[in-house]
Amino acid sequence: MKFFLDTANLDELDRALAWGIIDGVTTNPTLIAKEGIAMCEQLRRICERTDGDVSAPVISSVSRDMVHEGRELASLHGNIVIKVPMTEEGIKAVSALRSDGIRTNVTLCFTAAQALIAAKSGAYFVSPFFARVEDAGGSGQQLIEDIARIYSAHGFATQILAASLRSREHVEQAAKAGAHIATLPFKLMESLFRHPLTAQGIEQFASDYSKVFDPVKA
Ligand code: E4P
Repeated sequence: MKFFLDTANLDELDRALAWGIIDGVTTNPTLIAKEGIAMCEQLRRICERTDGDVSAPVISSVSRDMVHEGRELASLHGNIVIKVPMTEEGIKAVSALRSDGIRTNVTLCFTAAQALIAAKSGAYFVSPFFARVEDAGGSGQQLIEDIARIYSAHGFATQILAASLRSREHVEQAAKAGAHIATLPFKLMESLFRHPLTAQGIEQFASDYSKVFDPVKA
């Protein structure tokens, strides 16, 4: 399973890349806007930092314009994957971009039927929105399980990119359900390292050792 960082912030990205476990980046218009730097420039900076796939969103809602934007974004770097919303216009754009050899991430997916359409259109990634499904009274884990089952039954190559993950439980449930990738905000990713018993254990081991030996000389 791959980990992507869900951010457009370069400090967060640099800190997370140092862990050596981040395989790519996802962005969305909200995250890019927060940085206050124009889309193409910020994406260029992100791509300079990582060898992994970087999802870059289109803003238009009409297929022809999405394709135009997608081509422009894809020309920035070979690792760019164009993030297209799960609409009829979006799927038209995904089909056209596929013909150009441009990879896509169909985003804002809330049902297995939408994921089936995304796979049929040749999307490289599909992004089910875990927490937003739960906010609406559904089950994020069930959604990912259903998509994984359908893709496996019919041999679709589209990868399931679990998005909108907001807690450790979401990440664990997405992994159990068969997501190929989880994209996480920096704070959530950072929190996965920690457990109070880990900290307590480290302190205890160090204290037991230092009662007998000088840890600096050891
Ligand atoms: C990633 O591709 C999504 O844009 C992101 O995970 C959405 O998360 P949110 O529902 O917490 O805004």
